[in-house]
Amino acid sequence: MNVSTQQLYDTASDDWQRTEPILLSDFTARPFLLQWCEPVRTLDVLDLGCGEGYFARQLKQRGAQRLRGIDISPEMVRAAQQREAREQLGIEYSAGDAGDLRHLGDASFDLVVAVFLFNYLDLEATRHTMREVHRLLRPGGRFVFAVPHPSLAFLGEKRAPFYFEPEGRGYFSGRDHQFEGRIWRRDGKDVPVRSVHKNLEDYFTALATAGFDRMPEVAELRATEAHLALDPEWFGPLRDLPLHLAFRLQKAAEVTS
Ligand SMILES: C[S@@+](CC[C@H](N)C(=O)[O-])C[C@H]1O[C@@H](n2cnc3c(N)ncnc32)[C@H](O)[C@@H]1O
Repeated sequence: MNVSTQQLYDTASDDWQRTEPILLSDFTARPFLLQWCEPVRTLDVLDLGCGEGYFARQLKQRGAQRLRGIDISPEMVRAAQQREAREQLGIEYSAGDAGDLRHLGDASFDLVVAVFLFNYLDLEATRHTMREVHRLLRPGGRFVFAVPHPSLAFLGEKRAPFYFEPEGRGYFSGRDHQFEGRIWRRDGKDVPVRSVHKNLEDYFTALATAGFDRMPEVAELRATEAHLALDPEWFGPLRDLPLHLAFRLQKAAEVTS
């Protein structure tokens, strides 16, 4: 049975809840992405695919003025709202599809983040959502997102602490096909993840047609020497593999004549 993304996350929502780094990507991706979002002080921020709010909370704590989180899984949103009720950071969460952002006004955010969202969207939905992100950003606003590295499924083995299974498909023939995967927590639990495979060309073309007309900054994130020193056994199988691909873009500032 092909479980929907919403069901996948509704079922696993307890295992995603965290207040400190626990998932592999809490070490290998999110600290880097947070740095890339800086400066966030006084910004209006939209977090697409916010999950239970781990990344949104850190952006708010870094001084974002307004933080809006949207996620397709009502259980992930409920977990985020429950923590918000306890911590009162002032984050507004709602359940919704990142593919339908019509209710949000043009040029209403300074920063849009999407931390491992696009790997759940097919190519058409990715193109559409990126066009919408461009519409939602103010001139000069920034867009930061990360996806699993498109090569990982073909280079890594099917083992802890992170993998995707291409099921016989290749880098090109796998485009727009859904690869199931798993990512581990440091306490030994693992959670299901998936990736609707897209190649490098797909991301760059989608961004250009969305209206982002400057070269993006790109980072290929990996297990660093610091990670390997922290826990050689856990990070060891990932040595030298490209794990995540991060993008940072800026919408052109308005030209005044
Ligand atoms: C890997 S989790 C990451 C959650 C969060 N961004 C984080 O970094 O902790 C991916 C999230 O994307 C959400 N998601 C997937 N497809 C979505 C869609 N079409 N619209 C909104 N959220 C979606 C899932 O429900 C899940 O919470």
